[in-house]
Parts: sequence; structure tokens; C-alpha cells
Amino acid sequence: MRTPLVAGNWKMNGSRESVKELINGVVEGAKSLNGVEVAVCPSTIHIADVVAVTAGSNVAVGSQDACTELKGAFTGETSIDMIKDMGCQYAIIGHSERRTLYGESDEIVAEKFSVVKKSGVTPIFCIGETLEERESGITEEVCARQIDAVFTAEGDNAFEGSVIAYEPVWAIGTGKTASPEQAQSVHAFIRQHIAKRNADVAEKVQILYGGSMNPANAKELIGQTDIDGGLIGGASLKADDFMAVCQAGQ
Ligand code: PGA
Repeated sequence: MRTPLVAGNWKMNGSRESVKELINGVVEGAKSLNGVEVAVCPSTIHIADVVAVTAGSNVAVGSQDACTELKGAFTGETSIDMIKDMGCQYAIIGHSERRTLYGESDEIVAEKFSVVKKSGVTPIFCIGETLEERESGITEEVCARQIDAVFTAEGDNAFEGSVIAYEPVWAIGTGKTASPEQAQSVHAFIRQHIAKRNADVAEKVQILYGGSMNPANAKELIGQTDIDGGLIGGASLKADDFMAVCQAGQ
């Protein structure tokens, strides 16, 4: 059995004060959780403050991105070694906002995946189709292409010890959630696609759903056979809402 993971993607939100309040609420709420893994991914500049509060708790911390390079003249970037050194266990890679707004190609995302995996930090590898792609009937093709870029870089066992997040772009921050059936169908496809390379890895890999998951829809989504938790944006910014989603994962 796969343990569900609920991860909060805080994106570019919060002040030192509001982040402190949020993480204290999450750490407190997480004390009573059982059978669900919890992580939060603050903005890079807040990671140190968050790690100071989560130390010794059952809440893990992740970054929202990582540079393809490990050190040197890359102004404004943060390497995965730095992220790991700050106490992060996870790094979100290939979020659709990075792909769309910052031009990250499948190949760049795959390079980032490799560098994260090699560091020992767990990649949360994001994939998903746009509305136009869904309406053209190429959802599976798009997800397969995004996954295959990682197979090309890392070989058949690429996803061993990593996490995948299926996030239909049209559902992110829009309030439009994929129906449990729509999401399950793509999750099952993703698992089968990975199984073609390595059945054991496919069976074990956690595949999260992301895109307007909230306390009202989380239980039904996470209840689907191939949905192993969620990557939560908007609803992770309030401790009560985030904890309600975590409880739905139990
Ligand atoms: P959302 O964001 O929950 O606000 O839709 C999810 C994400 O972008 O990871």
C-alpha cells in the first residue's frame, strides 16, 4: 500500500509573520494525523524560518524549484545542494507555472529532475495538460511526453523514490477541479505508462493530484485507486483548510 502524501505549494505568498503563523498551525494540526505524509513548500526565502518550526515534527519541507546547476555564476538561482542543506526533503520540479511563465521545456525539467534525484532530495515532478490539449483529446499524449523526457534522462527506474503530481493546467487556481473519474483515469494511465518500464516502481510511486483540491473535494479524489494524495495551492495557505485536506488523506 502506498501512503498518501499531501503537500502544500505556497507559491509566492506570505510574510515572515504570516508564514510563522501558518506553519505553527500546520505542525500543531499534523500531530494528530495518522497514515498520511505531510509536506509544505514555502518560497525559498522562507524555507529557513519554516524548517526552524518543523524540526522534530512530522511535517516535511520542500522547495518549489531547483536550479539545473549545483554552484557558480547563476545569479538569482538556488541549487539543490543549498536546498538540501537548509533541511528540505522535497523539491517541486516542472510546475506548470515554471513551464509556462518561465519557459521550462520538458528537457530542462528533466535536467532538474536528475539533479534533484542525484542529491537525495525527493522530486515532486509535475505534469499535466492545458485546456486546449484536453479538448483536443491529447491529455495522455502530453503526460506521456513529459514523463518520457525524464525516462530519456534517467532510464527505466527514473521514478524510483520520487513523487509525481498530475496537475491539469486548467484546474490550477481556477476552482475547476477535475472530476474524480477524470483524475483517476489519467492517474491510471500514468501508472501504466511507468509500468511499461518498471512495474515495481509504478506500483510504489506516489501520484498526487493537484488543481483546486480543497476540503470539500479532497476525500473523493484521494479515495480513487491511483490517487495517492494531493499537491495543494490555494487551500494550503490556511492551516485549517490544509489540515482538512490532510485528514481526508488518512
Ligand atoms: P491550486 O494549485 O490548488 O491553487 O489549484 C495547485 C498547484 O498549483 O500546485
